[in-house]
Amino acid sequence: MSRRLIIGGNWKMYKTPSEAAATAKSLKVKLINVENVDVVVCPTAIDILAVREIVAGTNIKIGGQNMYYQDEGAFTGEISADMLKDAGCDYVVVGHSERRHVFGETDDEINKKIVKALSKGLVPIFCVGEKLEERNAGKTEDVVGGQLKEGLAGIEINSAEKLVIAYEPVWAIGTGVTASPEQAEEVHRFIRKFLTDIYGNALAQQIRIQYGGSVKPANADELLGQPNIDGALVGGASLDPDSFTAIIKSAQSV
Ligand code: PGA
Repeated sequence: MSRRLIIGGNWKMYKTPSEAAATAKSLKVKLINVENVDVVVCPTAIDILAVREIVAGTNIKIGGQNMYYQDEGAFTGEISADMLKDAGCDYVVVGHSERRHVFGETDDEINKKIVKALSKGLVPIFCVGEKLEERNAGKTEDVVGGQLKEGLAGIEINSAEKLVIAYEPVWAIGTGVTASPEQAEEVHRFIRKFLTDIYGNALAQQIRIQYGGSVKPANADELLGQPNIDGALVGGASLDPDSFTAIIKSAQSV
């Protein structure tokens, strides 16, 4: 099976529209003909239109960082799947640990968001991951398994392209501490097995499972070289076009 890796750039709450435009212009030059890897940048919502316009004509795709699961209504401050789609997004990050732990998002809400994203033709990048105390208590598989079970409840997919999973151990996000390739691979293998049990082997083998948490040019080769790591969701290092491009080059070479 040929593995086509996926590298996401999660810009979080960084970059004003003009800063985002400058970054996108630089990425466009560096990645004009990017091939053999799917590249998705996820700017904050107010930056999406500017970034999309700049990268038009390249293979760089756009993702939202979050969405609400209702179609429309009196939900001040929220963004719908239709809005993301119409603004040019193909992907949306769902259940990022910052959404779970800073904003109190629940597994049930995350499940509703995945259902809605899929129904609107957006590919959810569904994030799971344990906290440090959970890992230290030997509960990593319980936590990640529980998040997968709740998040994917009732969700049917007929193509592996429709769903991306991101394993992001909370203790590794933005901390500079990366899971070792072996630690990450162990959880990715567990996730693959979980997906096999619900979607069957053929689909599960092809669903991309990204690793996220302090991915940098210096550790990307080793992480992306693991058999069950099919890409990376990159936060801090995606803010700088040079380091993001270096990670994409790693993905092209493994
Ligand atoms: P980081 O963030 O690369 O800065 O650790 C990853 C993420 O939160 O998606």
